[in-house]
Amino acid sequence: MKRIGMLTSGGDCQALNPAMRGVAKALLNAKETVEIYGFLDGYQGLIYSKFRLLNYTDFTGILTKGGTFLGSSRTPFKTIREPGPDGVDKVAAMKQTYYKLQLDCLVILGGNGTHKTANLLREEGLNVITLPKTIDNDLWGTDMTFGFQSAVDVATDAIDCIHTTAASHGRVFIVEVMGHKVGWLTLNAGMAGGADIILIPEIPYDIDKIAKKIKQRHEKGGRFTILAVAEGAISKEDAALSKKEYKKKLAKRETPSVSYEIADKLAKKCGYDVRVTVPGHTQRGGTPCPYDRVFASRLGSEAGELILKGEYGFMVGYKNREIVKVPLEEVAGKLKMVPPDASIIKEAKLLGISFGD
Ligand code: F6P
Repeated sequence: MKRIGMLTSGGDCQALNPAMRGVAKALLNAKETVEIYGFLDGYQGLIYSKFRLLNYTDFTGILTKGGTFLGSSRTPFKTIREPGPDGVDKVAAMKQTYYKLQLDCLVILGGNGTHKTANLLREEGLNVITLPKTIDNDLWGTDMTFGFQSAVDVATDAIDCIHTTAASHGRVFIVEVMGHKVGWLTLNAGMAGGADIILIPEIPYDIDKIAKKIKQRHEKGGRFTILAVAEGAISKEDAALSKKEYKKKLAKRETPSVSYEIADKLAKKCGYDVRVTVPGHTQRGGTPCPYDRVFASRLGSEAGELILKGEYGFMVGYKNREIVKVPLEEVAGKLKMVPPDASIIKEAKLLGISFGD
């Protein structure tokens, strides 16, 4: 008999339910009896002992459902050792819940911050298996995270819709894409949506180069220009600042985001009618795409198998088209960014896409 705890933490994404279903099916189809306890709203459920015993029916009919049926929340790692407003010692409380329920393992689905806490719980002696979730695709140790492909679909749809209206009006349009500090989502949605200019945090931009590219397009008879801009895009001048100076500058920013700042600068420089569209959290919503349903199910079932074998302390990831187990200590605290010298960047440039560099 095994007793497993399960939770989803951090920003949600489209394939959390299929991933949990994958874990549960592998466990509940096994010969050994397995009890699965679902913690509500991420680590908060583990801290405050908010859980329920899940059964087979909780995991049926959820393959196509976005979001997470357990709920999620953000419990920042940087304050995990600080007592909460109610004075609770979060780490001690999580361990207490684990031991009270006599769990054999925690299955934790999440992104970067979630993995730091998962690794800390492992260091504290708990058995942990994690699954890589995030639309940002920025987790170290895996070529792909689930949720990413679904988000690429949504962001691409947004760029597709903007294309037709931009063409009618002969406008310059910026579509701001999520991705936090990395550019995977913007790069892929930008290429899929035929963006003319793609700005990602890994390649700081020069506003004059962007203006030049737009001018060239117009001179060649192009009536419109589409920019896919990552929410974390940064100019060359800002990239030269220290982290502290840049934070200070951001706090004083008068525009809602980098896209509006770029739009203002371009309107002033070139006199173009620049519009900004921010699909925002729609990129994390809706149904998981077929790729993510299969991918998350595969990762989930492999996690189930590891648990049945009693192999703990790993993230189940994806490397060179194979499902792999990656030690948690190798994953936690590292960001997977787009290498500026990656072949996809070279290929995008061959297609005539400008990165503003
Ligand atoms: O990490 C996923 C993500 O959607 C990022 O792309 C984005 O920067 C962030 O979460 C938004 O966070 P929140 O939902 O807390 O506003």
